[in-house]
Amino acid sequence: MFSSGLFDHMPVLETERLVLRRLEMGDAQDIYDYGKDPLVAKHVLWDAYTSVSEARAYIKYMLRKYRAGEPSSWGIEEKATGRIIGTIGYMWYQKDNNAAEVGYSLSRDRWNRGYMTEALKAVIDYSFRDLAINRLEAQHEVENPASGAVMAKCGMAKEGTLRSRLYNKGRYVDVELYSILRKDYISKVKHK
Ligand SMILES: CC(C)(COP(=O)(O)OP(=O)(O)OC[C@H]1O[C@@H](n2cnc3c(N)ncnc32)[C@H](O)[C@@H]1OP(=O)(O)O)[C@@H](O)C(=O)NCCC(=O)NCCS
Repeated sequence: MFSSGLFDHMPVLETERLVLRRLEMGDAQDIYDYGKDPLVAKHVLWDAYTSVSEARAYIKYMLRKYRAGEPSSWGIEEKATGRIIGTIGYMWYQKDNNAAEVGYSLSRDRWNRGYMTEALKAVIDYSFRDLAINRLEAQHEVENPASGAVMAKCGMAKEGTLRSRLYNKGRYVDVELYSILRKDYISKVKHK
């Protein structure tokens, strides 16, 4: 079982409109409600849910990761409603390179309000202030430019296009790779 110590506790991260917190079994209905939407699942590597039990299985999988101290995701709770409207977190972490990848998804009825930009900024802050991460990556399908806009707004730099990098839902897709380095973050904070 992989445990770097970095992810032994996933603290609550609070932003203006959101609370990023560990998922709980009671979040299954909220996650199912947006996770059953094929448009939400179109450019991610999971399939749209067909039953609430699939959302429960996802939460159980996360609870195991929290317990094992493995890279994991926060639930994104909307302060105004108390509803879980998405997730964001670490897809993997490489100790030797101090590198990690972040991924996220959001309920369609909450798109284009700046929510994921707010959440990703909080995760970037946490990654560089509290964890020994040196390089944080994110990637999105070329056909999903809204996700690239989120990365750019959070100060991530586009590094290039990875051709046919993923086989997703029956087709090979090109992917844009973004990253932010610790030194980028430090110089950005210094100039604020
Ligand atoms: C991608 C996603 C996370 C964006 O979240 P969000 O909260 O809507 O993002 P924000 O509101 O912070 O920013 C979205 C930006 O994309 C832009 N945008 C939206 N649709 C776009 C499109 N078709 N083309 C280009 N830009 C687009 C918005 O204008 C906004 O940029 P702006 O603030 O400069 O105007 C959300 O759409 C989502 O969860 N999609 C489904 C799952 C997914 O694709 N996850 C990412 C996998 S890599």
